Amino acid sequence: MRRALSALLNLVCFKNFLWPGAVNLFIAANLFIAVILLLLSAGDIHAAGLSDKELLGKTLFFDPNLSLNNNQACATCHLADAGWTGNNPAINAHGAAYEGSIAGRFGNRKPPSAAYATPSPVLHFVKEDNEILFIGGNFWNGRATGEKLGNPAADQALGPFLNPVEQALADNACVVYKACTAYPDMFEKIWPDGCSIQWPADTQQICATENGKLQLNSQLRKKVDRVYDNIGLSIAAYEASAEVNPYTSKFDYYLAGLIKLNAEEQQGLTLFKDKGKCAECHVMDKGPNGEPPLFTDFTFDNLGVPRNPENPWYNMPASFNPDGRTWLDQGLGEFLTQRDDYRQLADANYGKQKVPTLRNVDKRPNEPFTKAYMHNGYFKTLKGVVHFYNTRDTKPQCKNPFTTEADALKQDCWPDAQIKTNLNTSELGNLGLTAAEENAIVTFMQTLSDGYEPPPGVKPLKPGRR
Ligand code: HEC
Ligand code: HEC
Repeated sequence: MRRALSALLNLVCFKNFLWPGAVNLFIAANLFIAVILLLLSAGDIHAAGLSDKELLGKTLFFDPNLSLNNNQACATCHLADAGWTGNNPAINAHGAAYEGSIAGRFGNRKPPSAAYATPSPVLHFVKEDNEILFIGGNFWNGRATGEKLGNPAADQALGPFLNPVEQALADNACVVYKACTAYPDMFEKIWPDGCSIQWPADTQQICATENGKLQLNSQLRKKVDRVYDNIGLSIAAYEASAEVNPYTSKFDYYLAGLIKLNAEEQQGLTLFKDKGKCAECHVMDKGPNGEPPLFTDFTFDNLGVPRNPENPWYNMPASFNPDGRTWLDQGLGEFLTQRDDYRQLADANYGKQKVPTLRNVDKRPNEPFTKAYMHNGYFKTLKGVVHFYNTRDTKPQCKNPFTTEADALKQDCWPDAQIKTNLNTSELGNLGLTAAEENAIVTFMQTLSDGYEPPPGVKPLKPGRR
């Protein structure tokens, strides 16, 4: 389209050259048309390269008003500059679980990256060597299965708005009310269901109340449910966009043959694949259609990560956490117990958490910014993570199962695994890596941050799948 326009304008200028001054009106008319055409085309693709649906998703993702106290957006816990995880280095340095819209209410897990999450397939299992292997879904335990909307990220996006320890609205109609009131045109443009709903007069008041639920007739309720699903699908579209998944890390430049890795990064890459065994789960092969590697195979494993002693969930009131400090995060297995079709498979999956992508694992807004790693944020450093994989089974057990990463490193011990069943002992625990080899693996992981600035002479990669 742009090319056609410039050809048109060239033609106009050429005429202008032939008859100076004679066709100014013609030029003005053409420019007018050009502007109109550009405005129309902006309806499909926006300046940032987002489609209308992606732009709506982005708008919802960043809107703090879509929470009970108008103070919490998805982006609060999924900051792009921190690799789409938690935005607060002080929280990351300690409990790693975030406070919700209601003060004092904390979740129990660390926010994983909201980027590179959309390629996860609908949760399912395959049989491999007589073992049942679950694959897919979103969340650490896969419970956003994708069965509702055909897309785990869309199912996922329906959760946080209504989670009492997150955005804390009590009724999906309140999310729809707030979104439709703020962005009616954006909905009308994309979704056939639109957004025009006759809301009860006291809607705003009820939606500002904890546990506030609207009285709607069944027809209206059905419409609200459809619009709510469209909110999930729009957010998932944004999360699948090139803006969120740009594939512009140093490693991507290397894959494209545009740059070389330095010696330590190259050594780390090799170790990541062979001696470190990392790529057995954080897969770095291209996808079946040449998709760039995602550093996860979306399976689940129990690595024996220790308890995070500072997890604020331990201190949540009994109405949320009746187990206090004895609470255990049973991962996938716990979710499977809630499903009639999967319950008999739960035992083999207690303690297993989803393999996270390692893209942007080191991305942070500034050098001193602390990030947290693993489902409970136990680790604060990538060096600690690699050291754990390397020595989990060779160091003595710390006396106190509630020992932080820093103290464990000081005492040269590792605390007991939070969940001891289904522990993976074949791919980690005693890797025999030297300190220099551990460092090289860390250095390699640092090449996975998007937004790499290539050296002069190398053309920047266009964001998105290639
Ligand atoms: C209070 C912090 C918080 C807020 C707000 C929040 N999240 Fe999350 N997010 C988390 C945590 C914690 C998890 C992991 C929870 C679990 O696995 O049980 C998570 C998981 C996810 C995942 C799963 C990624 C994967 O690979 O499985 C996606 C995607 C995501 N969030 C997107 C969103 C969206 C979209 C919103 C807004 C509608 C949102 N989050 C709001 C903390 C938050
Ligand atoms: C057996 C499969 C497996 C292997 C092998 C493996 N990982 Fe992991 N990795 C996981 C799982 C599962 C998690 C999440 C575990 C949890 O939270 O309890 C994880 C988490 C991580 C995290 C934290 C990411 C985040 O966002 O919190 C890092 C970093 C990591 N792995 C790096 C590595 C490196 C480096 C290696 C090789 C030395 C490696 N992994 C080997 C499965 C594996």
